Amino acid sequence: MVKIKRDEFMRLVTYMRDNYGINLEQKLTLVEGRLWSVMEKKGFKTLDEYISYIQNDRTGEELDTLLTRLTTNYSYFNREDNHYKFLVGTVLPELTARLKEKDLRIWSAGCSTGEEAYTTAMYLDDYFGYHKKEWDTRILATDISPNVLKLAGEAEYPEDRLKYLSPLWKQKYFTRAHGDIFRVNDNIRKEVIFRSFNLMETVLPFRKKFHVIFCRNVMIYFTKDTRDALVERYYDALDPGGYLFIGLSETVNKTDTRFTFIQPSIYRKGPK
Ligand SMILES: C[S@@+](CC[C@H](N)C(=O)[O-])C[C@H]1O[C@@H](n2cnc3c(N)ncnc32)[C@H](O)[C@@H]1O
Repeated sequence: MVKIKRDEFMRLVTYMRDNYGINLEQKLTLVEGRLWSVMEKKGFKTLDEYISYIQNDRTGEELDTLLTRLTTNYSYFNREDNHYKFLVGTVLPELTARLKEKDLRIWSAGCSTGEEAYTTAMYLDDYFGYHKKEWDTRILATDISPNVLKLAGEAEYPEDRLKYLSPLWKQKYFTRAHGDIFRVNDNIRKEVIFRSFNLMETVLPFRKKFHVIFCRNVMIYFTKDTRDALVERYYDALDPGGYLFIGLSETVNKTDTRFTFIQPSIYRKGPK
């Protein structure tokens, strides 16, 4: 196993923090564990050599590998389902009453392999039922890692990732592809648009404001300053009355934010 020198490690820490907001400062062992096999396989003796290679690799392929190795992509369907209950019980009734154009815009930021966005699409399908076709409810789902986006687009998952869905939804929204692999049905797949986007970009390239943003279990890896700044960008990207959902183990700096705290991990642009 490669041993990484402190100064080389700090070069990687700075690179990941400045470009992707990801804070690896306390994660030396994790980095060694996740990078050694790829460095060894490709013949890099030091981390310095590897970082220089990545920075000069015009194809961007090695950067994809690095991001895949150093980000945590763990996700599953119906994760933190109290958020979906709040979406269905409070947010959707509120929005459907006031959105006259029937254009509901949701962003899954840091979507990983797509479970969050597809789960949201299932809740929307279930909520709108027969009236679904009157609405444009397509969901934008973004991530920095091309590898997870590719998997998200393929929409095939081991059965284990579906274990928090009811048997009825499993049957209604999936088809068994082979073995224990389930594929999300096309009516749900077509509701999600996957794009590559780095949340460190200070200008958000979206023409219209969102009504709901999910950014769950993403900011946990960011430094406090990055997190605070991103939350304020989300505020600007939301329509008045819009909602931000973050991971249950994450927090927003309540004293500095313009958001109104609704309940742990749920915030609103505007009064309660
Ligand atoms: C643990 S997953 C969260 C997936 C999903 N939101 C959930 O809660 O299940 C975190 C995702 O954030 C993505 N991510 C990390 N830093 C990012 C950045 N700077 N820009 C965009 N996505 C980022 C990672 O690639 C990873 O797929």
